[in-house]
Amino acid sequence: MKKLAMILSLGILMAACNFGGGAGSDVKPISDPDAKTKTENSNSSYDPKRGQGKFTKVDVSPTLNAAMASNGEKVYGVKCVSCHKLTGEKLVGPGWLGITKRLTAEWIMNFATSPDNMIDKDPEVQAQLAICLVRMPNQNVSDEDARAIYEFMRKNDGVK
Ligand code: HEC
Repeated sequence: MKKLAMILSLGILMAACNFGGGAGSDVKPISDPDAKTKTENSNSSYDPKRGQGKFTKVDVSPTLNAAMASNGEKVYGVKCVSCHKLTGEKLVGPGWLGITKRLTAEWIMNFATSPDNMIDKDPEVQAQLAICLVRMPNQNVSDEDARAIYEFMRKNDGVK
């Protein structure tokens, strides 16, 4: 009986791992302003807007670079599709719809190339980890591929 309750609550946790606000989701997005302030206070070297890593300033044009986005889509198809949907719906990790509106290019590219650096420090990722129960493994993404994936995410978010 105890075991059953555990399995049930685990199921609820997994189902709640949905950050894109997909249809039928009543889960609030994880951007809790309090969490950010707390981390800023306790770890002043970590910038939750930029994340941690080599990307400090990414140039992003207001219009889409279609060739780059299509390269990004290819990388996504090989390395990311097994865990990330293009809708807001969770698979293993959060769905990507709206991700470029929630997170900066720097944050996304730093995370894509080196998730380990950020998983333990970022308040948003900490919150996800608590719900997803899976750490995103390093996918050996090159700088160029990370930029292409970001462009593909922008396309997915409606940039033309
Ligand atoms: C084995 C599953 C898995 C694969 C493959 C994977 N991810 Fe993830 N990803 C996760 C999980 C789980 C999270 C949630 C954070 C955590 O718990 O580590 C995540 C979170 C993210 C986030 C933050 C999302 C958000 O909404 O805050 C980004 C960006 C991301 N992944 C990019 C990528 C990219 C780019 C690839 C492909 C190169 C990729 N991921 C491949 C599991 C995966």
